[in-house]
Amino acid sequence: MKFPSTRLRRNRKSEWSRRLINDTYLDKSDFILPVFVCEGKNKKQEIKSMPGIFRYSIDRLDEIISRASKNKIPAVAIFPLIENSKKNNKGTEAINKNNVVCNAISQVKKLNKNIGVMCDVALDPYTSHGHDGLIINNEIHNDETNKILIKQALVQAQAGCDIIAPSDMMDGRIGLIRNALEKNKFFNIQILSYAVKYASNFYSPFRDAVGTSSTLKSDKKTYQMDYKNSDEALLEVKLDLDEGADFVMVKPALAYLDIIYKIKQKFNVPVFAYNVSGEYSLIKNGIKSSLAKEDIILEVIYSFKRAGANAIVSYFANEVIEKYLSK
Ligand code: PBG
Repeated sequence: MKFPSTRLRRNRKSEWSRRLINDTYLDKSDFILPVFVCEGKNKKQEIKSMPGIFRYSIDRLDEIISRASKNKIPAVAIFPLIENSKKNNKGTEAINKNNVVCNAISQVKKLNKNIGVMCDVALDPYTSHGHDGLIINNEIHNDETNKILIKQALVQAQAGCDIIAPSDMMDGRIGLIRNALEKNKFFNIQILSYAVKYASNFYSPFRDAVGTSSTLKSDKKTYQMDYKNSDEALLEVKLDLDEGADFVMVKPALAYLDIIYKIKQKFNVPVFAYNVSGEYSLIKNGIKSSLAKEDIILEVIYSFKRAGANAIVSYFANEVIEKYLSK
């Protein structure tokens, strides 16, 4: 393998040759589209920190769902903006059968019964303090939080959710939710564990979107992972798989390609990458201010696939499919 018998540029010389040798593929089926929903009627509100991304009231969901369906996106992930008057310190709106998430689930299924629906299990959109769990004696109480998360998962399952996605990072919740689903005969509901969720600075625009930026006073470092850790990520995944997760998520994605890679290598289970809001906004604004070319989006998405992600939760999903994958 040495020059001149080996000239790696030979295989790069033309487009057809580059197409033959590339080893990473991207497809419409590789995406989950996050969809923000809000209460009320006839609302479509742009999220200021996320240009091109909107919140929809239930009666306006058809626009985004038909776009996703047309683009053959396999599944959507629903995230709610809850009115302040419905928030309290226990997040009880999370277990209301008629909350905006449950209504959104049935509406999406009505619009397209063949699209998968995924819902977060976590209390942050519903609590007055913006944390994912209950605060007892100044701490986010693990076991008391789990009790309400189980109920939230069941309420969403009853509403027709296909994938329950706990993003709260409490210990033991996957096993508890799995048992509760089995007991209630939801044998086939999938659990996507946000197994590896870092306490990240990349979530700010999302917190604007779901209205927790103003309510959240401190950080989430006592439950979300420290970005200085890598071994711990493997342990999180192992526990969640043992407890009954069907697949696992790494979040954020772009600064954590090494973690995606390691998990894929070690466990060989479906791994999803969450290309989070801060990644979206930084890239969008970079393009807007001519710091980067638009194709940067595709380059970033490919990096998740190269690292080993099976699918990507991304606000770019529609855009990437329409621009690059619809020929
Ligand atoms: C809530 C949740 C968050 C995200 C998904 N679910 C934010 C957080 O933990 O504060 C972030 C998604 C994004 O930034 O796009 N548990």
